[in-house]
Order: sequence, then C-alpha cells, then structure tokens
Amino acid sequence: MFPSDFAWGASTSAYQIEGGWQADGKGPSIWDTFSHEKGRVFEDQNGDVACNSYELWEKDLECIRQLGLTHYRLSFSWARLLPDGTTRNVNHKGVQYYNRVIDDLLACHVSPMVTLYHFDLPQALEDLGGWKSPGIATHFDNYAKFCFQTFGDRVKLWLTINEPLICAKLGYEDGIHAPGVKEKGISAYQVGHNLLRAHAMAWHSYDSEYRATQRGAVSLALNSDWLEPLNPGSNEDIAATERDLVFTLGWFAWPVFVTGDYPEMMRSAIEHRSKKLGYSGPPRLPSFSKDDPTILGTADFFALNYYTSRKVKAGGDAEQTLCMKSDRDAEEFIDPSWPICGVSWLAVVPYGLRKLLKYIKDTFNDPTVYITENGFSQMGPLQMEDVQRCEFSSSTILEVAKAMQEDGVKVRGYFAWSLMDNFEWADGFSVRFGLFHVDFSDAKLSRTMYLYGQEYAKIISKHHNSGQTH
Ligand code: GAL
Repeated sequence: MFPSDFAWGASTSAYQIEGGWQADGKGPSIWDTFSHEKGRVFEDQNGDVACNSYELWEKDLECIRQLGLTHYRLSFSWARLLPDGTTRNVNHKGVQYYNRVIDDLLACHVSPMVTLYHFDLPQALEDLGGWKSPGIATHFDNYAKFCFQTFGDRVKLWLTINEPLICAKLGYEDGIHAPGVKEKGISAYQVGHNLLRAHAMAWHSYDSEYRATQRGAVSLALNSDWLEPLNPGSNEDIAATERDLVFTLGWFAWPVFVTGDYPEMMRSAIEHRSKKLGYSGPPRLPSFSKDDPTILGTADFFALNYYTSRKVKAGGDAEQTLCMKSDRDAEEFIDPSWPICGVSWLAVVPYGLRKLLKYIKDTFNDPTVYITENGFSQMGPLQMEDVQRCEFSSSTILEVAKAMQEDGVKVRGYFAWSLMDNFEWADGFSVRFGLFHVDFSDAKLSRTMYLYGQEYAKIISKHHNSGQTH
C-alpha cells in the first residue's frame, strides 16, 4: 500500500521536549518568558524541564528505535545554538547536543528532518521587535545559514518555519501563545509577512550556497484544517468556505506555490473591511517590495500539518472592530457526528485529510507532500490501552493511502505528532499527544509505549518491510 521508501516518522519540537532551559549557556526564548508569567499556561506549568530530552536524549532514541521509525522530525532551539539570536555568539554545547542527536539517528538508520523555528524566538530578538520587525528576516537567514553550514552535511530535510499561521494568529491576534500580543486585525498580518520573508531568504540561501553540495530539500510546515460548507447547497456557505481556506492555508501557500503574492480574495476582503470600519492607517496586509526575496517557488516539497476539519458558514461580518475574524467573514463549526479526541478542538475526521490532500494537489501544482504532523490526544485519566487513538490513527493512515492510490497525490511521508507526551503549549502537560507516555510525576521521566505506539509500530513494520521485499 505504501512504497518501501515512504518516510514513517514522528515529530517533536525543542521547547516542548528539551527542558534544560538555562543549561550550558542556552539563552531564553519567548516561551521561557511567556510560560513564567502567571496565568498564561494551564496551572502555570512551563517547559523548564519538560521531557528533559536535553539530558535524556538516549531514552528518546530508544523510543524511536522501538517504533521502527525511518524518520524523526525535531526542531532546533535557536537560543540554544545562538543564545542572543545572532551568530556573534555561538553556544558550542548546543552545537554538540544537536550533533550528537543527528549522528545517533543516522547511526540507527533514521533520517532527521529538522525544523529551524518552532515557536521559540530568542528573547533577545523579541526585545529588538521580534517578528513584527522587518529586520528579523535577516537574523533568521543568518541562523538558517549557520545551521545549513554546521549540520547540512547530514541533515537533508529542512523546514524553516513551523506553522506561520499559528505563530501569527495565536501569538499576535489571540495572544494565547508567546509573545502574548493581542493587536487584533493588524499585527498578525505583519508577522505573517515577516515569517514569509524570513522563510524565503533562508530557502534562497540554501538554494544558492548549499544545495549543490548538500543536496537536501527545504520547505515550511503549513497547518490546515479541511473545511467544507455547512450547507453544501448554499452559495453563501460555499463562498465562506473558500474565503476561510484562503485566509488560513492560502495566506502562506498561495505566495509560495502559486503567485508569489497573497490571494487577491484575501487582500480585497481586508481592504473592504478596513473601509467599512473607517480604518485609515497603512494597508493592514503588507505588500512584497522589490527589495524582498522572491517568494514564489521557495519550497522543495509541501509540508502539511493536519489535525481536524470544520464546517463553515458566513459570519463575523457583524463584528464592529478590526479583527481577522471579521476580515474573513466565516464561522466554523464542528459536526456533532465527529468524535472529539482529548482536547476540545480535535474533532477526528480522517476523510478530511484525503480531501485536503486532493485540494493541495489541485490548487498548488501537484507538489510532493510530507504530512509533517498528524495526531490524536488524550486528557484526564491516563489510558495506556488507548484503543480509540489506535483506530483514529489507522483510519487516517488509510485515507492517506487512498489519496495516493485513488487521487494520485504524491505523498512521500507521514509523521505522527508526537513521539512522546510533552508540553502542549497553553495546555501545559494536561493534553497528551504521545506515542509514548511520559510520567511527569517521576523524576526519571520514564517513557512507556501506549497501545497507540504499538499499533503505529505495527503499521510501520508491515509497510516498510513488505515494501522492501517487493
Ligand atoms: C501543532 C504544533 C505542535 C503541537 C500540535 C498539537 O500546531 O505544531 O507543536 O502542539 O499542534 O496541538
């Protein structure tokens, strides 16, 4: 069902697992600052220790081996490598740590996929204006070049930015992720713009300076729900669904894969709303200037994070203040027939992934796709025999197979989120996404495979091994 070279992975991110927040010269990140403020995270928890992967990497490697993964997606902590965010000061202990991780993975025949930025900006750069300031793109590019130079002889799959939509919206519109800014209808668009500029600069650096010798591939991880009209017979709902897709996935995928610029529908909706509300400042959705890097074509594959689906109808128009919701004029609903898996936003809709993959093929020029995150969570009492998550995961993987075989989508890999339970952002440790359980009440932070992990391992061994012999 899956080719023998299909990538079977699991994903994590630095802040969510590493701990060691001040170890060996690491600088603070915006998540260190944010989680140390009262009231930001569930029960004021933080990632100071998390899974302590900084000290317990060998245990993670053991989990990776037990699952039989062919790939492991991790992120680098920018402030662990460059404590003040700049290459003026390199933390060699940080370099050593990631060298060891990469070398150990390769020694076990596991290919690393590395994300350069997964929500944890060095605080020193935040103090200079962070993602709102245009100069951040150059800092990111320097950091990216440093990583390509240092690790690119061995790392062949790179992601620049994880989920620019979430960075921008949760960090600067809703204020529920670091740095906790709520400047509705304004800052998220600026931040999204700088994230894209930063990504494109780094891709061009790789392309011109490293690709010829390192022969890797670079992209950015875009998250999207599958969206469909609440009432499929309503033209209004169909239009709202299209708008919603354009404001979420299209915001970043359109410039990179289709035109080099934001979707026209998005720009005109924002302008329309600005006029209606009497906004007279500079355009809220910035434009790319001739000094900006070319955005079109800056992805060597499509990296998709998929979790859930929504039904959509028009709505948001009534809001009398500037905000992204009123710009996109769409309201989202969970179909009551969809099972909820742990956290309340996670309605499980396996067919949504197949539909989204087909949409990506048709809309973004039939790219090669890696599903860089997909997962299922549990909350409340611990369930080691989590039959439901097993079912959800196998039916979702079946939909991936259908997308490949019946719709011809070029899917090259699937990465489960996450290798192990970890710090789930504002939900702290209350939400468990792991293939392995981590016992946070025990100083050893012991890792134990859930049934979900066992089932995933079986799926991998079935396809990976059967593929090899044919
Ligand atoms: C993604 C994010 C991950 C993880 C996951 C589950 O948005 O990239 O870090 O937290 O969601 O909520």
